[in-house]
Amino acid sequence: MCGIIGYTGFRPAAPLILDGLQRLEYRGYDSAGIGLLDPSREFELHRSVGRVTSLRESFDLEKSTSHTGIGHTRWATHGKVSTENAHPHKSHYGHFLLVHNGVVENFKKIKNFLLEHGYSFYSETDTEVLVNLIEFHYRQGQVAELANFLQATQKALQDIQGTYGIAVLCRDFPDRLLAAKNSSPLLIGIGEQEYIVASDAAAIVPYTSRVVYLQDREIAFISHDELDIYTLQTKKTSITTHLIDWSPEEAQRGRYEHYMLKEIHEQPQVIANTMRGHISDDLSTTHFGGIAALLTQFHRLDRIVFCACGSAWHACLEAEYLIEHYARIPVEVEYASEFRYRNAPLSKNTLIAVVSQSGETLDTLEALLEARRKGYSVIGITNVVGSSIARETDAGVYQHAGPEIGVASTKAFTSQLCITAMLAIYLGRLRQMDYTDGTAFIQALQELPKKIEETLLLEAQISEIAQRYHHYEQFLFLGRQTMYPIALEAALKLKEIAYIQAQGYPIAEMKHGPIALVSEHCPSFVLETQAAIFPKTLSNIQEIRARHGKVILVTTSDIPSEDMEVEERITIPRTHHALQPILATIPVQFFAYHMALLRHCDVDKPRNLAKSVTVE
Ligand code: AGP
Repeated sequence: MCGIIGYTGFRPAAPLILDGLQRLEYRGYDSAGIGLLDPSREFELHRSVGRVTSLRESFDLEKSTSHTGIGHTRWATHGKVSTENAHPHKSHYGHFLLVHNGVVENFKKIKNFLLEHGYSFYSETDTEVLVNLIEFHYRQGQVAELANFLQATQKALQDIQGTYGIAVLCRDFPDRLLAAKNSSPLLIGIGEQEYIVASDAAAIVPYTSRVVYLQDREIAFISHDELDIYTLQTKKTSITTHLIDWSPEEAQRGRYEHYMLKEIHEQPQVIANTMRGHISDDLSTTHFGGIAALLTQFHRLDRIVFCACGSAWHACLEAEYLIEHYARIPVEVEYASEFRYRNAPLSKNTLIAVVSQSGETLDTLEALLEARRKGYSVIGITNVVGSSIARETDAGVYQHAGPEIGVASTKAFTSQLCITAMLAIYLGRLRQMDYTDGTAFIQALQELPKKIEETLLLEAQISEIAQRYHHYEQFLFLGRQTMYPIALEAALKLKEIAYIQAQGYPIAEMKHGPIALVSEHCPSFVLETQAAIFPKTLSNIQEIRARHGKVILVTTSDIPSEDMEVEERITIPRTHHALQPILATIPVQFFAYHMALLRHCDVDKPRNLAKSVTVE
């Protein structure tokens, strides 16, 4: 995800900003840029696609005399990966440079307004709209008056809808840096005769541990020796500072011991990001701009074939349950590696959908190419903008989960579940699902980040359970219908990072074989959230217990299982049927994480595994 750094102070700005950008690299990015303002009021702008090291090589650091500057690492959202789309962006008349994290939702409207007022645009980004809007207001006021810099920004930020973390330079004030935020992190490090603005503490802690956390809709107006904070209307009278006690290394992961844990905890925000822009104005359905062009085909579709690997394959299996249930379209789910060689007979009106977090998994890419070779339309669901799979598909949906660093997929998996649920409702509403059912889903979708937050509070309970179970060498994970893919995902997580033999199974199938494994040495996780079929699950639980198997039950509070004898009961919040799998995933992610920790495994880099599997 994008990163911001800004500096004004006694040091040369360029080396510090480049160093900060390198500290933000772990977040993932595709291009980077730096903008410097020298004392003679000239901007120096360098942007490049690729690594910060190539940006560093693109100019002579020794020659730079600036003490004020801004930098950015971009993870493409609006517009492809290119130098023109990289930040900083310069305003039309050259007064301002700006870096931005977030999304300006009403950028089209503002862009049209600015075009009518003679502004030109050189990138495909929403950010360029913001820098020009600030300039527009600046030119309406008393140019070259310091207060006008602040007021123009206040006005522009009042005009925009969306999220932002920004750092801005104005050519007329070489020692001034302005920063503002709304739903995008930004903090200000306070040094002696210097200030550092960053979206992440990692870029600040090498220089100072004293920081101010900017609040939403606040603006920091900074010079070498002065920091003032304003709202969008007035000045704030008091500023609260905090001390960061993390090492630079810890700062990248925040307070979390591992990226995997951080990524599990990021899920409320990730799901909010994934759903952003996909909810219809009448709140009765979802929509997908990226695949709208295939709309007519959706009406004629008689089959969807999903292809993926690993966790993404589990997300596809969930799609099968949901799309068949809500849209009545037959769905098949294929391992990408099997599909490409299988030569499956497909009818003319089949749509192929490939799902891949990295967008680079070779098996999935080859399955996609094979399908296209045969003339099928292919849509992609991926997390990485501009990845090979994103480029090769006819249309697609981005997950917006942010970079996933832990090898075990967590937030990317739940964001895929969120997209497949939204897709099921979208297709359902194009066919027979009614308005009321659509609104019930959208309401549940909007409440979901809150419910994920509640589910995250179960971590302490699950870590205690892991204490009791970490010496077991095998587990069964059992679920029915929409909980079956989650049982598979749970087993994969435990295998991957705790190196424990684990098997996911449809619960009723257990008696056709796996029950032979059940004993006091093999505990079973049972995932069940549907009241109507709970009595059946109860019988299966009794079959396990009759063979001395311990049972860890993941369920919802409305299911009357209090009297039932199970060793452990984990209660997750109730949500819409299509979204319940997302909440059920969180306890099993925590379980795998804490088991791995107790078994002293390398959580973020499990043995033999790679984050992106680009070999067959
Ligand atoms: C998940 O925890 C795994 N590391 C793995 O199964 C992964 O989901 C699989 O390799 C597919 O990756 P992709 O989503 O990047 O295509």
